[in-house]
This record gives sequence, structure tokens and C-alpha cells, in this order.
Amino acid sequence: MTTLLRNIGELVTNDPRWGDRCGILHDAAIEWADGIVTWVGADSEVTERMNGGTEVLDALGRAVIPGFIDSHTHLAFAGERSLEFASRMAGKPYSAGGIATTVAATRAASDDELRDLLRDRVAEMRAQGTTTVEIKTGYGLTIEHEVRLAKIAREFTEYVTFLGAHVVPDEYRGNEDAYVDLVCTEMLDAVSPFVTAIDVFCEDGAFSVEQSERILAAGTERGLRTHIHAAQLGPSKSVQMAVSHGVASVDHGTFLSDADIRALAESDTVLTLLPGSDFSTGQPYPDARRLVDAGVTVALATNCNPGSSYTSSMAFCIAIAVREMGMTPTEALWAATQGGANALGSTILGNFGIGSSANVVELDAPNHIHLAYRPGVNLVRRVWS
Ligand code: NIG
Repeated sequence: MTTLLRNIGELVTNDPRWGDRCGILHDAAIEWADGIVTWVGADSEVTERMNGGTEVLDALGRAVIPGFIDSHTHLAFAGERSLEFASRMAGKPYSAGGIATTVAATRAASDDELRDLLRDRVAEMRAQGTTTVEIKTGYGLTIEHEVRLAKIAREFTEYVTFLGAHVVPDEYRGNEDAYVDLVCTEMLDAVSPFVTAIDVFCEDGAFSVEQSERILAAGTERGLRTHIHAAQLGPSKSVQMAVSHGVASVDHGTFLSDADIRALAESDTVLTLLPGSDFSTGQPYPDARRLVDAGVTVALATNCNPGSSYTSSMAFCIAIAVREMGMTPTEALWAATQGGANALGSTILGNFGIGSSANVVELDAPNHIHLAYRPGVNLVRRVWS
């Protein structure tokens, strides 16, 4: 079926043929058929395109944007860690160690319990305008449990990332390299059929730069895209290592050196900023203004997980990026849509180019600035995808 959404006050296309960064059109319309964008243009041209079989919808002057691409989440978990959050707010620092609590709860959950949790979380995201979500494994940490998480996550998205290297599980304490061996061989072999990418948490208390490099290399050998959690809790040599490796994205990047920023700016690697984690761990926010000005390609994502960032709201991340990190509302929206698509390696997501996926979100607002201007308010009115 062909659908035509007309009378759009502001249409954000992220299509460079319409000009500035977000390719914004006013008094516009968009048409799609079978989930693919077939036409974008001025509302005054709409009558020429209408025929008997076209479903015509009226946006009543509202803003329409591409669905958010949440390119970094840890949605496949059971349990919650609100007490840990409360003690952080009372001054205790975040540490990688809390992950073990969620590993225990996740291992104890049945397949159906995990499936129900994921279904609810993906629905919660969709209601807030997220039409594509990446989901990491990482709360299983045995072959059996990592495969189980990957398979269940695959029921909800095509973007599943293997994060067997999230932390070293308790059973391998003191024998960390043996766990890295397992991740790079048998665990990776078993999980590979269900995932498109591999990730590693490179940080004190998780994996070293050398261990992370081995893990990325093992993923690349199997043809997986590579991502890394880097410079989240402190400066690290991991950023430049990962850029030379050619990772699709470096994620977090809260503590970057000038050399890290140069390396990122000169590469095709996307830097995925996760302001929800800096909010929830009480860390400083990265200076996104400096990153964008240096020419780094920036994405924004929620990092939804029970430890460091229990939010599913991309609009919340946009609001922080604008208020605290120096991005303009337009840059932040691009990062939350096209930036995320770039991190996932998709050209047909995150924009309304002809032939792109018709993931269309109508806002209860006249323009996209309201996403930051009205923090904490879900402005999403209708979603098509
Ligand atoms: O991206 N850094 C590693 N993983 C998550 C935290 C997971 C947790 O604390 O449970 C993150 O912040």
C-alpha cells in the first residue's frame, strides 16, 4: 500500500540533497510504499501524486522525523539495580563490578521471562520514537547463556552484538586470559550465527587494551563489525588502538585526549556518545561541541542497561546533549538518527532519501527543537515502520 503523509510543518529528512545537515523542509509531504520511501517534496505538489489507492494522512502542521536509531543498548537482562543508583547519588563511584549482579539475575531468568522483558522494552522504545535498536549480549558470560541471549535478542532486531567480553565472570577470576581465550574461540564460534557485530568493554575492572585488541581481531576474522566501550571511566589507550583497528564505533568516549579526537576525526569510526550513562554515574559530560567542530562523526544512543543508564529515551539523550554537551538541537537529532545508522553501517536507516526505510515519526510539536526544549515529555504522536 502507498501512504502519503502531508501538511508537515517541518520534515527532517537527513538527506543532503535538501541542504543543511538535517535536510529540513517546511510545508512538506512524504510518501512511502511497502516500507520504502518513494517520494519527498513540497506539500503543494501532493495532489499530482494522489491516486485512488493512496492512503492520505494529515500531519496538521506537526514536525516529522526519521525514527531514532538506538545503536547502543544492553536490553537483554533481568533484574534491576536501583539501590546501586541511589548509593551513587550519595557519592559512591560507578564500577564495572555491578555487572555481575545482573549476570546472576539474567542467568536465573527463563527464556520466556527474558522474551517478555525484551518485548516490553522494545515497545517502550518504539512509543518514544525509536524504530531501530541494537541489542548486546553480555549478561550471560557462558557459551550457553551468551547464545541464549543472542538468539532471543535476534527475535527483536537484526542488530545483535556479541559482548561476551563485558566483564570476566566470577568463575574465571585469577584466570582472566583463559576467559579471553574462550571468548575468542568457542564462545565466538557458537554465538556468531546469531550476531552481526562484536563489542568489548575496555576499562579497569573489565578488559585490558591488549585483551580488547585480541577480541576485536577475532571478531573481524569472523566477518563481524566491531565496536568498543572505551574511555568511559577514565582516559585510555584503547581509543587509538580501536581506531587503527578500524572499528565501526567507539562508544562512551567520556575521557578523550586531543590525540584521540584527532584519530577519530581522521577516521571513518563513529563516536557514540551515551549521555544517559554520564547522567546516571555522575560523571562529567563529554564536550560534544569540541568533537563536532573537530570533524568527528558523533552518534547518540541510550546505552539502556540496569547499571549505568536505565533510560530508553532518545529524546532525553538529545536534551542532555543540547543542554550539557554543546550540541545544537539539529546536530543532536542528526546524531540520534543518521549518526546511529552510520554506527550500525546502514545507509537506508536514519534518513528519508528515496529508497530508504520508511521509519516515520510524527511529533506533537511544530519543530524538532522541542525534543530538547521540552525535556521529559514524550512528544511522539504516531510511528510508522
Ligand atoms: O555501557 N560499560 C559497560 N557496560 C554498560 C554498563 C553495564 C552495567 O553496569 O550493567 C555500559 O555502561
